Amino acid sequence: MSATPVISATGLFTPPESISNEELVESFNRYVALHNDRNAAAIAAGEIAPLEESSTGFIEKASGIKSRHVIAKAPVLDPETMAPRWDERGDDELSIMAEIGVKAAQQALDRAGRKPEDVDAVLCAASNMQRAYPAMAIEIQDALGIDGFAFDMNVACSSATFGIQTAADYVRSGNARSVLVVSPEITSGHLNWRDRDSHFIFGDVATAVLVEAEDMAPAGHWQILGTKLKTVFSNNIRNNAGFLDRAHPETRDAPDKLFVQEGRKVFKEVVPMVSAMIVEEAERLGLDPRSLRRMWLHQANAGMNRLISHKVLGHEASEDESPTVLDTYANTSSAGSIIAFHKHNEDLAPGDTALICSFGAGYSVGTVLIRKT
Ligand code: COA
Repeated sequence: MSATPVISATGLFTPPESISNEELVESFNRYVALHNDRNAAAIAAGEIAPLEESSTGFIEKASGIKSRHVIAKAPVLDPETMAPRWDERGDDELSIMAEIGVKAAQQALDRAGRKPEDVDAVLCAASNMQRAYPAMAIEIQDALGIDGFAFDMNVACSSATFGIQTAADYVRSGNARSVLVVSPEITSGHLNWRDRDSHFIFGDVATAVLVEAEDMAPAGHWQILGTKLKTVFSNNIRNNAGFLDRAHPETRDAPDKLFVQEGRKVFKEVVPMVSAMIVEEAERLGLDPRSLRRMWLHQANAGMNRLISHKVLGHEASEDESPTVLDTYANTSSAGSIIAFHKHNEDLAPGDTALICSFGAGYSVGTVLIRKT
């Protein structure tokens, strides 16, 4: 039986450890000094260029990021490691990605007053999956004690909004009445902490969104007025890591097997695409884009969000109109707009219309227009 999809509740898990720009830059610059020292002869002979230092001033000005949460701080800051490290878990233990996903999902279920047996499906929507199979989503489903079905989906930074539309479609079609969209983003695993251009960009987190049929949703839920997805192929944000890397083992650990981007091109190409799409989608739904009460935008860069919200609202958005979580979370890939929504939605009034919007690698863009009940 078909039903109207709504957002019943959200959940958030924030890793306790956080790295400030000062700590990050101090560690990066120690790595630079070590590297240049160890390669002094080759640098003096002009065979390789010396590495340049990073700076907190650049990071904050270029991105708006001041700190980021990570699951494992010490190894990331150790100039000899500069990667996450923890003990590998056995197959009979809950995997780390499922563990943080379960924490966020449990909070969403508690907030909705929902029992696991009421949920029909779990989507694990994230930029990276810890393994090929079994699906992370099925492990999360099992840990929560949910009957039904689960699968993984990856649309990079837009995974969560693509997940919300998928969940909403299941509710509309009658294939499910209660669907969890879980986004555990352990981005410290794909970030090249030795790359000056991007070492400051990402942080770890997990979010969950419970999409349900309106007739079972708790009071104060958000109606989903419409969702729109768009993808356009681009190499400007790319990560070549994959299961076929063992076919060419000599490049298995090359920098292209981590996150790489052409930041300027991304900025220039994605801003007009996203702002046009938001305006078109609002108008398609009979809404005046300038009347949106709040925009929970993807959290990649404060400058991008300033430009997008200005184009949509017709004036410079206040923090109230377009809240930022990027300063303390950094870019958490698909979780960013969901963190912003989770932390900044309770003050809105019934009837307020607002937007969740993500954008990123692919390129991919997802908009979710919602109304508070
Ligand atoms: N510390 C100090 N200086 C740095 C630096 C660092 N860590 N990294 C780069 N710089 C320098 C560069 O060498 C360059 O110097 P130059 O002008 O002398 O050549 C200068 O700063 C500008 O570098 P650039 O890479 O062009 O910076 P930018 O202003 O484009 O900012 C991003 C970089 C990544 C913050 C920005 O492009 C961005 O956010 N793009 C959006 C894309 C995005 O966030 N995508 C994520 C997935 S959605």
